Amino acid sequence: SKARTFETEVGGGGELHQIAGKKDETLTTQQGVPIADDQNSLKLGERGPTLLEDFHFREKIFHFDHERIPERVVHARGFGAHGTFTLHESLSEFTTAKILTEVGEQTPMFVRFSTVAGNKGSFDLARDVRGFAVKFYTKEGNWDIVGNNIPVFFIQDAIKFPDLIHAAKQEPDRGFPQAQTAHDNFWDFISLTPESMHMIMWVMSDRAIPRSFRFMEGFGVHSFRLIDAQGKGSFVKFHFKPTQGLQSVLWNEAVKINGADPDYHRRDLWDAIDLGSPPEWDLGVQIFDDDFAERFEFDVLDATKIIPEEQVPVRRIGTFVLDAHVENFFAETEQVAFCTQNVVPGIGFSNDPLLQGRNFSYLDTQLKRLGSPNFTHIPINAPKGCPVHNFQQDGHMAMRNPKGRVNYEPNSWGGPRENPDAGYRHLAAQESGTKQQTRSPSFADHYSQARQFFISQTPIEQKHIGDALVFELSKCERPDIRARMVGHLRNIDESLAKAVAGGLGLPALPDAAPAAVAPRADLPP
Ligand code: HEM
Repeated sequence: SKARTFETEVGGGGELHQIAGKKDETLTTQQGVPIADDQNSLKLGERGPTLLEDFHFREKIFHFDHERIPERVVHARGFGAHGTFTLHESLSEFTTAKILTEVGEQTPMFVRFSTVAGNKGSFDLARDVRGFAVKFYTKEGNWDIVGNNIPVFFIQDAIKFPDLIHAAKQEPDRGFPQAQTAHDNFWDFISLTPESMHMIMWVMSDRAIPRSFRFMEGFGVHSFRLIDAQGKGSFVKFHFKPTQGLQSVLWNEAVKINGADPDYHRRDLWDAIDLGSPPEWDLGVQIFDDDFAERFEFDVLDATKIIPEEQVPVRRIGTFVLDAHVENFFAETEQVAFCTQNVVPGIGFSNDPLLQGRNFSYLDTQLKRLGSPNFTHIPINAPKGCPVHNFQQDGHMAMRNPKGRVNYEPNSWGGPRENPDAGYRHLAAQESGTKQQTRSPSFADHYSQARQFFISQTPIEQKHIGDALVFELSKCERPDIRARMVGHLRNIDESLAKAVAGGLGLPALPDAAPAAVAPRADLPP
């Protein structure tokens, strides 16, 4: 129904021209100069050289030459959509954030789903974590939850992130494999990093090959803070629960889909919106106080641990629906810049050392990727729900310089002023201690929750985890790395370790890996 007919004319030389007429606008240069001929560059004579004087040719090629920007250093392959969040239940007891207290309020949002390891042109059904990054354009500024579809992470401290990603992406000498966990470097790093074991159980599970973006859960992963009107803080973990349920594919299907339609996930989301069946998620929160944090068996600042929903139930407080395509993939999906540090009044950070590192990393990488400190002026990144006033100015591509004479404060001219009543207040947390590089002892328990996750799975899901480990490790050439991994599995579940050792054809069951903290067998599935 959207197809259009074009008027095409045959020129004097027999070539086809599409001429601006009643229906189509006139092509122009970036300077707005109308273009008479977009097929032929200016030449000297019929067979002579092309002339530099042809400003339209120069501008067109120059612009094309500069079309590419660096892909994201991680999460390069992604797909986004616009939507709306509606709050059903107020959290005013815990936070002043209007988006979480004004029941019925509708907040525009943008979500970008992604894979982590693959390059921009890689395939959708890789066994990988999926990014689930959300930007809410609230009345008090932009709030981002830069989450994943798995509630824990590989590492506990951001200082390990470059190593993790180097090991996961293609190997530096050969430039492959891309978008696969099945290679020596990945398993070498993982087998030397026992804190990754809980995450590995999730990544080898069906969660890492979702049927589509629509059937995935999302998690903010870290403990964040809610801050109430008195300045008191609670801890919070954010969840996105798909109202259409969870679905995954089998590995066998994933491999075929990757070959037949590497764009499967993005096409699925596009079609669902196009066909009037937009996906929907509930926003859930697990809220707990400092007393619970003290009592809980693990440190709530450790991003390799969950807080079981049996212990702190998820409260579903609102719903979001993704019902609109982007108008332009590059302008929106590629240029969107999420950052864990984008919070609004009433929401703050915990001291999770992974979160603290992320808070530094995103702005830094986006300056490189988008090329200017003014990337917040790009419409997809600009706040939509509120005015923006400050004295930041200049830089590449400045679109929003201060108006008038004043560009500093305090000043005697007028202009935007700080607002102690409505402005962002950091949580006045009491901190003290020695500068040190170690963390609390429960950070060293790498196996208990990995085991808890494994035993919580149904028998067929457990089999999928074992099969995935056999498949992935069979692509790892070094026998010592395979054996080291099975040594870790022995601390998680003996039957799993035996199944994987058998599947890999190991001559004997390796010794269990030395555990800094003995794995607990008392945690319920
Ligand atoms: C990008 C999630 C840990 C650095 C992303 C994206 C997501 C994400 C969803 C893609 C955003 C988009 O769609 O544009 C997470 C989660 C983490 C985690 C859930 C752990 C809980 C880290 C850490 C670092 C880091 C520890 C570094 C210290 C980056 C960078 C990008 C990125 C540099 C690219 C951003 C861009 O180019 O715009 N992350 N990440 N991430 N992440 Fe993380």
